[in-house]
Amino acid sequence: MSVKFYQPENQVPLEMHKVRVVQKLSLLPVEERLKCIQEAGNNTFLLQNKDVFMDMLTDSGVNGMSDQQVASMSIADDSYAGSETFNRVKAAVKEVFGTDNVLPAHQGRAAENILAEAYVKPGMVTLMNFHFTTTKAHITRLGGEVIELVDKKGLIPKSDDPFKGNFDLKALRAAIKKYGPEKVAFVRIEAGTNLIGGQPVSLENMLAVADICHEFGVKSVLDASLLQDNVYFMKVREPQCKFMETKEIYRLLADKMDIIYFSARKLGFSRGGIITAHDKKFTDEMMEFVPLYEGFLTYGGMEVRSMEAMAVGLLESLDMEYISQGPEFIAYLVNELDKYGVPVIKPAGGLGAHLNCSEIVPNIPHNQYPADAVATALYIAGGIRGMERGTLSEQREPDGTERYAELELLRLAVPRRVFTLSQIKYCADRVKWMYDNRNLIGGLEWVSEPKVLRFFFGRLKEIGYWQEELVAKFRADFGDSL
Ligand SMILES: Cc1ncc(COP(=O)(O)O)c(C=O)c1O
Repeated sequence: MSVKFYQPENQVPLEMHKVRVVQKLSLLPVEERLKCIQEAGNNTFLLQNKDVFMDMLTDSGVNGMSDQQVASMSIADDSYAGSETFNRVKAAVKEVFGTDNVLPAHQGRAAENILAEAYVKPGMVTLMNFHFTTTKAHITRLGGEVIELVDKKGLIPKSDDPFKGNFDLKALRAAIKKYGPEKVAFVRIEAGTNLIGGQPVSLENMLAVADICHEFGVKSVLDASLLQDNVYFMKVREPQCKFMETKEIYRLLADKMDIIYFSARKLGFSRGGIITAHDKKFTDEMMEFVPLYEGFLTYGGMEVRSMEAMAVGLLESLDMEYISQGPEFIAYLVNELDKYGVPVIKPAGGLGAHLNCSEIVPNIPHNQYPADAVATALYIAGGIRGMERGTLSEQREPDGTERYAELELLRLAVPRRVFTLSQIKYCADRVKWMYDNRNLIGGLEWVSEPKVLRFFFGRLKEIGYWQEELVAKFRADFGDSL
């Protein structure tokens, strides 16, 4: 949706909104940034937001709200049952997906819990293009197995295939035949595949997956959490979508899927979660778990003001001028980094930019956590907080050995409607400096390593004194700049 500039050299993505509420940021001096990251155990999850300049940890629940969303919050109806707010959410879901049956949940993973409780039994398999952490946790907790069927191009950092989240359709058919349809709890299609770099799935591929599901009598489930970015990519990368209205695309998909669920922390620029289906049979099968785990059927653990914001935000997810902003800023950042020669996952996806740390610091072995080392170096370089998506985010094998990640990535999330282009340029500039000084970056070792979810709570320290050397180099290069 880029607006064309008169002078091509001035061309940049242009926001089709203006900022009316601002939050002050602080950029600490580099010496203090060093202190903060070390006090946080070299774990960006443990940094305090007051010490962060650009928070690129996640795109979840931190997207910019529109004036219409904020205004809608004042009419929230907090009656326990029969709330008008829920009726407005239902109407918005119907507008976007065309579905009548809607179950609320407090966030995406809660929807996944309900889905898994209803359909996953020990010994069953779930087939998907790629897992998401919380999805997999709920399925395996109930004795199910996750089988990933993403086309192999999706896992090649340098492949510039436009739809790296696509299913390998042959492998899908073969897997259903191998396990037998009765053993397949469901096939899950993750739009905007999170863990492989926010890479989209094509409309053609999603519809083909749904057709295969119908052919074998297997349930198709769409995880629509990242669907707004995915729809943007369909519009700009898939010829058959170019002249379609966004709503037409949402509806085409929804008409083919048995069940759709999403995290409204992403889709809907708000908070909360939703499960929806055309056929009441499915929501009936899941309904009993909502009061059990979430709350009554008209709020499901959500706060009513967030529900109002979601109702408005869902409609904004149909608006190309809104949904283009995230992917276009990410593309800008990825292109800047690529121009500098910084190894980055291409083509640009949704969600954020992903630095390929195995190439940035090939000297650091997996068990010294190269992606986290780069995360700490970038915080020192610019007060920028990213998220490690590599070996540190994996869990050790039962015998205690490390499970090495296939990709050692540092994710720099770009929350939607939040950053300005000058901040994105600043980010690219500091990444470039860090990359030029990558020979100074060393490994990390554990100070305390939790058994589960170690990436959330674990504490590490630098091996040697490389972080102090990086600070000294920063001072030499930047003088007294922050
Ligand atoms: C694709 C996908 N599915 C599910 C979830 C879980 O949603 P939530 O964080 O609201 O629990 C996420 C969150 O990042 C996600 O990216």
